[in-house]
Amino acid sequence: MKARARAAGEDIIDFGMGNPDQPTPAHIVEKLVETVANPKTHRYSNSRGIPGLRKAFSEYYERRFNVSIDPEKEAIVTLGSKEGLANLASAVTSPGDVILVPNPSYPIHQFGFIIAEAAVRNIPVTPDETFFEALELAVQHSVPKPRMIVINYPNNPTAEVVDLAFYERVVDFCRFHEIYVLSDLAYSEIYFDNNPPPSILQVKGAKDIAVEFTSMSKTYSMPGWRIGFGAGNPALIAALTRIKSYLDYGAFTPIQVAAAAALNGPQDCVDDIRALYKDRRDVLIEGLQGAGWDVPSPPATMFAWAPIPPAFKHLGSLEFSKLLLREAQVAVAPGIGFGEHGNDFVRFAFVENKHRSRQAIRSIKSFLDNYDQVIADAEKHRAEVR
Ligand SMILES: Cc1ncc(COP(=O)(O)O)c(C=O)c1O
Repeated sequence: MKARARAAGEDIIDFGMGNPDQPTPAHIVEKLVETVANPKTHRYSNSRGIPGLRKAFSEYYERRFNVSIDPEKEAIVTLGSKEGLANLASAVTSPGDVILVPNPSYPIHQFGFIIAEAAVRNIPVTPDETFFEALELAVQHSVPKPRMIVINYPNNPTAEVVDLAFYERVVDFCRFHEIYVLSDLAYSEIYFDNNPPPSILQVKGAKDIAVEFTSMSKTYSMPGWRIGFGAGNPALIAALTRIKSYLDYGAFTPIQVAAAAALNGPQDCVDDIRALYKDRRDVLIEGLQGAGWDVPSPPATMFAWAPIPPAFKHLGSLEFSKLLLREAQVAVAPGIGFGEHGNDFVRFAFVENKHRSRQAIRSIKSFLDNYDQVIADAEKHRAEVR
């Protein structure tokens, strides 16, 4: 629909995909250009990542989380974290294994394991008591018992965050029940209000059961470069290393050298990226609230998880998104795309600038003002006829 509307000359403001729009910082691009001129870098690279990048990544964990990662045994470079998540799933899963996955979730969390023929059992995302009750029930009622759990905070799509105490409880539970943990920390650096998200690897004993994925895509605006990392449990890292040794030769060496330069170099570019998303968040949330749409302000990630306004809720997220696109020329991601428990929501990604966001808010306001009434009247009429 979006492509058709654009082809017909409509100006669609697109909050649909979490695809960072900012250029990669210049010093990182320069390092790539400088390195690519050296023909030695044109050969096959190293499937688990060049040593310099694994070292730079381990130093990041030390600096940021005070966690020591052995770059030889506990770290791997992946072709974006998505590739690592998917290949780890197929490396460690046998058909019929029970895997606990939140719903809604970033699609590869479910589908990595579905492709590996696992039996996926859904758990809630919201990190409260119901989450731990669901874990207890899953252990009691799953045959065979769960083998792995996926967690992702700051969360895509809900933007929920957790503190270290939550991870401590998860590690305690999973160590006791011998369940591996796959933590996705793709938004480690995209947080607001001075509250950096913790890593599960900060918990004592976490490395016995947990592996964690992080990404360069959002932190350094490098989505197209395809560099991510896995860290943690040496057996899980070894399994991923083994399967990747059959599948790929690693990212192009100049990309890995430039990624190491990003991690080792000045970090003010990360502050700038964070500030940009915060600014956009504030404009969008304030504007949507002013337009009568009560959307909570996310504490982290580049997403707002917006409950469908009550008058439109019965449409479901896909039909509502299509209506918004047709009538307001605004594209959002329907929550159903993240799982059935996402169907009462749509997701806005902060990938349009402030000017375009304000333009979108004006058309959303006029859409809500008009359609709210149209739909309410239609429902009233239907109730009367009944
Ligand atoms: C939660 C989450 N994990 C992983 C990814 C994938 O990131 P990468 O570019 O590192 O593959 C994304 C991208 O949107 C994401 O939102």
